[in-house]
Amino acid sequence: MAKTIIVSNRLPISLRHRNGRFEFKPSAGGLATGLGSIYKSGENIWIGWPGNTVDDPEQRAEIILELHDLKMAPVFLSKEDVEQFYEGFSNETLWPAFHYFTQYMTYNAEHWEAYVRVNQKFCEAILKKADPDDTIWVHDYQLLLLPQMLREVLPNATIAFFQHIPFPSYEIIRMIPWRKQLLEGVCGADLIGFHTYDDMRHFMSAVGRITGLSSESGYIQADNRIINVDSFPMGIDYDKFAKQAKSKKTQSIVREFTKQVADQKLIITIDRLDYSKGIPQRIHAFNQLLKEHKELRGKVSMIMIVVPSRDKVQSYKELKEEIDLLVGRINSEYSTLNWVPVHYFYRSFPFEELSAFYNMSDIALVTPLRDGMNLVCKEYVASRTDQTGVLILSEMAGASKELQDAVLVNPNDQQGVVDAIYNALTMKPAEQKARISSMQESLKKYDIFQWVKVFLDRIEHVKEKQAELTSK
Ligand code: G6P
Repeated sequence: MAKTIIVSNRLPISLRHRNGRFEFKPSAGGLATGLGSIYKSGENIWIGWPGNTVDDPEQRAEIILELHDLKMAPVFLSKEDVEQFYEGFSNETLWPAFHYFTQYMTYNAEHWEAYVRVNQKFCEAILKKADPDDTIWVHDYQLLLLPQMLREVLPNATIAFFQHIPFPSYEIIRMIPWRKQLLEGVCGADLIGFHTYDDMRHFMSAVGRITGLSSESGYIQADNRIINVDSFPMGIDYDKFAKQAKSKKTQSIVREFTKQVADQKLIITIDRLDYSKGIPQRIHAFNQLLKEHKELRGKVSMIMIVVPSRDKVQSYKELKEEIDLLVGRINSEYSTLNWVPVHYFYRSFPFEELSAFYNMSDIALVTPLRDGMNLVCKEYVASRTDQTGVLILSEMAGASKELQDAVLVNPNDQQGVVDAIYNALTMKPAEQKARISSMQESLKKYDIFQWVKVFLDRIEHVKEKQAELTSK
């Protein structure tokens, strides 16, 4: 029977070295949860990088065996691969380009060669496991060349690709010297998915202008195959968040935490350290709020969780320093002995504590300058089981297309963000309830499991359509 192979740069675990040994830490991410029932069933498997380098052949063999039991197969990357493919081309060329941060883009031929080489490595790892009629679902911008590499060896396989980050306008994509190879690489797939209609539109336009392939209403005509392109906005495991919020464990953490910030309104912000998240801009806006509304000093605090990420990449190192500096400034200016404006945490938290933070915060301030989807805003909404709270959400996040009942802001408009926070602090409970409950309805319906189902059903549909066209 044909099986399904999931492929992403990172496996849904991460490998850590400890005292000369290694251990696996499972990922609690949304994608890992959503695809759990897929890769764990039958002969299915997830192929990817375990997140650390392993040079010793004996250790590699051991890891392969252990991962095999978890329904995973590793692609080992060398130190050079990590520097040139992951930190280099993926995160210093593609990531900034796709998020419209052209000032951070580097154009490095060695990084490009590493990107081709590592995509090839993934291809070889898949070919060891794949049968000709398997379904192979490739994820994200680190693996744009993989669909075409697979297609050349497995012409009849079902290949799908989903991009989790934005797809920018043609004007940006054309700046990348290897743009044609990248787009042709993705076009090896039968189905190509994005979070939003705009991402899809940008992709179709770039394909038409750069590769010359013709396209019409969601379909691209490749040599002897049609490719479907569409938007599939990703959801969260809604029940998991709602249930956790009500759990005894989280409720007791909420009681303990709130005692320490008694009588204060709380604003929660949670992000991976990334310049696309607009963290400095948010601190500036909060600073402006405290300047304009003196009466709020001592009464409102921001809980700012920044999860360490890509800390070897220069622009991320600089961002970390900028955030440290800005938090230092605002806290040194306004703090009193029993109040600090920003509670800043540069680390990750266990799930039950995150749930407590969502639960005790009156406002979630989610203001990325650009974001493919953003799941934090959805997690906040799902965690508000008493239907209070206000979500302030950037128009530049993919999620804003669905969450129209959030208070939408342009993150570059500092005064607009200040006013939105002020209005949120004074919003009547009835309005909070109306907004939160309507967003909850849609998030409940289009959860992560529904997303996986709709995407997989569409793959089948595309294959049927292809078969119909070739039999004509
Ligand atoms: C985003 C990307 C993912 C990536 C994740 C974490 O969500 O879409 O592909 O895995 O960030 O980044 P990292 O570089 O640590 O894998």
